[in-house]
Amino acid sequence: MPVDVLIGLQWGDEGKGKIVDYLADQYDIICRFQGGPNAGHTIYTDKGKYVLHTIPSGIFRSNTINVIGNGVVIDPITLRKEILGLKELGVDVSSNLLIAKKAHLILPSHRYLDAASEASKGSAKIGSTLRGIGPTYMDKTGRNGLRFGDIASPDFKKKYEDLKHKHTQLGSIYPEIDFTWNEEEWFDSIEFLMQYEVTDCEYYLNDAIKAGKSILAEGAQGVMLDIDYGTYPFVTSSNTITAGVCTGLGVAPRHIGDVIGISKAYCTRVGGGPFPTELFDEHGKKLQDLGNEYGATTGRPRRCGWLDLVQLKYSVMINGVTKIALTKSDVMDHFETITIADEYEVDGESSQQLPYDLCEENYTPKYKSFEGWNTSLGDVKERGEELPKAFRDYIDYLEKNLEVAIPMISVGPGRDELILNE
Ligand code: GDP
Ligand code: IMO
Ligand code: MG
Repeated sequence: MPVDVLIGLQWGDEGKGKIVDYLADQYDIICRFQGGPNAGHTIYTDKGKYVLHTIPSGIFRSNTINVIGNGVVIDPITLRKEILGLKELGVDVSSNLLIAKKAHLILPSHRYLDAASEASKGSAKIGSTLRGIGPTYMDKTGRNGLRFGDIASPDFKKKYEDLKHKHTQLGSIYPEIDFTWNEEEWFDSIEFLMQYEVTDCEYYLNDAIKAGKSILAEGAQGVMLDIDYGTYPFVTSSNTITAGVCTGLGVAPRHIGDVIGISKAYCTRVGGGPFPTELFDEHGKKLQDLGNEYGATTGRPRRCGWLDLVQLKYSVMINGVTKIALTKSDVMDHFETITIADEYEVDGESSQQLPYDLCEENYTPKYKSFEGWNTSLGDVKERGEELPKAFRDYIDYLEKNLEVAIPMISVGPGRDELILNE
């Protein structure tokens, strides 16, 4: 069977965790293929609310295997905390979590370099989650990194010390910062993680494909944070797009099946960088309050703005999106008028393309308004006549313009708070 993909179409936090958790019982295997503990995927189940950072969002479904793939970067301290937190909720991961040997390790000194580099940038900082993501991927591409499979090597401690030494030398170019090293906790966590099964992820998954198993690859972050196609340099350090599934899991492009794109009914961004439809008025505040827009990893307030169709079309194109799940539609229940950007004006001309550098100010989003539906959609389960006409018109417009069906509309954080049309 093909490998289906689920990715965020905006700047992250689209509600990927919720949708993966919902879909997970239709799959045998759920895999993370990139990113690391910069991600925060929130899930509400009958066991309560939980935020996952490294572990795939299928973990609450006892019949799925969850793979942390080789494109992921792992902080042992965070991963141990996640496993123990799940245990407290009664979720035992010992038989359904696999960790790729080729996944790279985040060292305390990577977190130190991340913090020092951000501190040196002043007001131009990226707004990184400071989880050591950038420096770890730099060591991966610079061919210096340590991988999960290296833990078993007899000279692991020496490799660690050598890399840390490089990092402290590198750190001397930055101003001094306050930093908690946590090295003892890091090594204790490594020790703890040795009880979990490691895998040659590429063999495991290709065997599973041959055996007819169904696989879902779960993206972290979103298209606009992709290292190549996002709002560079205000991006993360991995390929968050569909193409990242092939490198991050070791599966060939011909095995990719459906690509499910997740988009909020509006737009948010956390951290620095351009955001064309950002609102600085009472509407932005209303989206933030009603949507409870505070980061799941750092607790920072998320910037809010209207849905941007030019940006979404770009994401659909880059990723080959075959269906969309629209989340947080319930937040729009409270707006008299629903606004979306449906074109940009660039140097006086109408355009459907994202400009090269969104930081420049030679473009303006142009908006279209829709009548709001002003009622709760919470109890509706299927997309049909009982939905308000204003809501149906709005969804029809999105589908027509994006040229992709929207078979899932999420109307609340809970697993089953969904309007389906499949
Ligand atoms: P992710 O990183 O893409 O998994 O998203 P986050 O978990 O960081 O942020 C999404 C937030 O929205 C979480 O608090 C979810 O519980 C919540 N959420 C997801 N879908 C919906 C929805 O349809 N309506 C509402 N009100 N909240 C939602
Ligand atoms: P999920 O998977 C939203 C943002 C950071 C910062 C930039 C670089 O939950 O959607 P990094 O820590 O990677 O160096 O930060 O990317 N960022 C996210 N924003 N959701 C995320 O993940 C994010 N992961 C990173 O805020 O602007
Ligand atoms: Mg998140």
